Amino acid sequence: MAWLLVDHALLFSSLIFAFLRMTQSTDPDILSDFVIPANATTIDENFFTYTGLRTAFTAEFPPDFKALKANMVEFPGLVGQSISYLVVQLPIGSVNPPHIHPRSSELLFVISGYIEAGFVDTSNKLYTQTLQPGDIFVVPKGLLHYQYNANASFNATALTAFGSANGGKVTLPVALFETGIDDLILAKSFKTDIATVQKIKAGLAPKE
Ligand SMILES: *[C@@H]1O[C@H](CO)[C@@H](O)[C@H](O)[C@H]1NC(C)=O
Ligand SMILES: *[C@@H]1O[C@H](CO)[C@@H](O)[C@H](O)[C@H]1NC(C)=O
Ligand SMILES: *[C@@H]1O[C@H](CO)[C@@H](O)[C@H](O)[C@H]1NC(C)=O
Repeated sequence: MAWLLVDHALLFSSLIFAFLRMTQSTDPDILSDFVIPANATTIDENFFTYTGLRTAFTAEFPPDFKALKANMVEFPGLVGQSISYLVVQLPIGSVNPPHIHPRSSELLFVISGYIEAGFVDTSNKLYTQTLQPGDIFVVPKGLLHYQYNANASFNATALTAFGSANGGKVTLPVALFETGIDDLILAKSFKTDIATVQKIKAGLAPKE
């Protein structure tokens, strides 16, 4: 009887442990200083440098919302380091549509302009804030969020940091309307008709 109790206690504690690991999951730890790509010939300072974000300061400001990525795909030196960046450029009136980073929280730092940032928690409560240069705003991991430049006078640029080398991005308009989910399923889900769903899809389709 006593053994049975110990058994149950062990099972229970290992379940709790597994659950904690699941909820606290981050990028896996590596057992070396950094990860050398299989095809690497030399590892020098250039492997630890990425210059692809310079265009945020050198190129002309984009006509619509643009995200310049620097995750482990663009910058292999980040593999195993649980960290990455993104530069968000928001011309006047533009939006970074509602999206989710499934594997990372996000820390947004406004470099220039004014940004309305918002996220929705799992109880469907909306948190929004108007940010100015120097402000930072955190989006908890996996929650739906967006950024909008409502200011009529200034373009806006922000740097976003992620606690993952590859946080991933699910953009809702794309995931819902550009992946081939049946019109009828979408119409029923949004309690509307197929014509409305098709109108939304047509609006998202690339323009000639
Ligand atoms: C190694 O492979 C990656 C991905 O295919 C590629 O982007 C990179 O240029 C390659 N590096 C070298 C040194 O060949
Ligand atoms: C804002 O961005 C637009 C392009 O979207 C550009 O034409 C304009 O010069 C920029 N304005 C300022 C103040 O930088
Ligand atoms: C835009 O920013 C300027 C400078 O802070 C501010 O005076 C103005 O009220 C802002 N406009 C809007 C629509 O937020």
